[in-house]
Amino acid sequence: MRTIDWNNETNSIMMIDQTLLPVEYKVIECKTLGALCEAIKSLRVRGAPALGAAGAYGVALAATLSSADNMDALEKDLKAAANIIKSTRPTAVNLAWGVDRTIAAMADAYDLDGIKDVVVSEAKNIADEDVATNKKLGKYGAKLLDDGDTVMTHCNAGRMACVDWGTALGVIRSAVEAGKQINVVSCETRPLNQGSRITTWELMQDNIPVTLISDSMSGHVMRKGMIDKVIVGADRITADVVFNKIGTYTHSVLAREHEIPFFVAAPVSTFDPEGWEDTVTIELRDENELRFFKNVQIAPENVRVYNPAFDATPMENVTAIITEKGVFYPPFLIDEVLA
Ligand code: MRU
Repeated sequence: MRTIDWNNETNSIMMIDQTLLPVEYKVIECKTLGALCEAIKSLRVRGAPALGAAGAYGVALAATLSSADNMDALEKDLKAAANIIKSTRPTAVNLAWGVDRTIAAMADAYDLDGIKDVVVSEAKNIADEDVATNKKLGKYGAKLLDDGDTVMTHCNAGRMACVDWGTALGVIRSAVEAGKQINVVSCETRPLNQGSRITTWELMQDNIPVTLISDSMSGHVMRKGMIDKVIVGADRITADVVFNKIGTYTHSVLAREHEIPFFVAAPVSTFDPEGWEDTVTIELRDENELRFFKNVQIAPENVRVYNPAFDATPMENVTAIITEKGVFYPPFLIDEVLA
């Protein structure tokens, strides 16, 4: 199934619980806004494009659950739900984008049932478009990869971070589909291990060769000439930086030092035309994510911890940004991308 989907029979959200991967593949159902918000905060659903769909489906869920008996009251309910959903995770711009686009669709409805229908159908459109967007982006990006390349990636920008196919891994999938042999090096991505748990699992399912390394090994493998290209996804792209999973910046500096192309693959919905590095909130996550691994204590219980979920990579470290509108090279003019 898709990473996240709408259940027409029960008017609820179905998703693969990514916290359990790769040990257990379990599909869970979110029947309430509270359950959805918990799933987003605890990364059961995660990755910028998947969060866009989750936000949109959240508005759809709020519409079907609302007991409002007039349009004004329903609109009020949905706007309140929108604020709650948007507050769950602040960095990936796609979450707010998915919510806002679904809320805006209400303008096309003339009665209560009309609002509910239009909101559910817009959320489904967003999910369908995500798959089409990633396929398109993948085809553009595949041209940047050569037969025999070894490509390093960080975190999970694959099918599990999207509705399907993936952005960075979508580019790799498209290159493989085009007949190229691509070897992937996946960084572990501490502290929540999206790379070791999810990226390796996804690629192995598709029989794409993948080697797992710890995050701190990236400089070593680049210096040894073992990496031809780096490709990552993004959570938000402003005029000056690319926000992505913590550790991305380090890899970009190392790639630049070793003259290795550093590609970012992201849909246009990840661009924030008004944002700058200083205007964006980087999510600070629970300190225990570093003190414990699952339930095993790996640091003194009271040690002071700093745990930002994302970092910012300056544009001068980025070789190209791959979108569904094509590949953009420096200077990355947001207005050109969004035109
Ligand atoms: O905290 P996460 O797992 O939601 O972070 C995800 C990432 O940083 C991904 O690299 C990014 O969302 C791009 S996904 C196509």
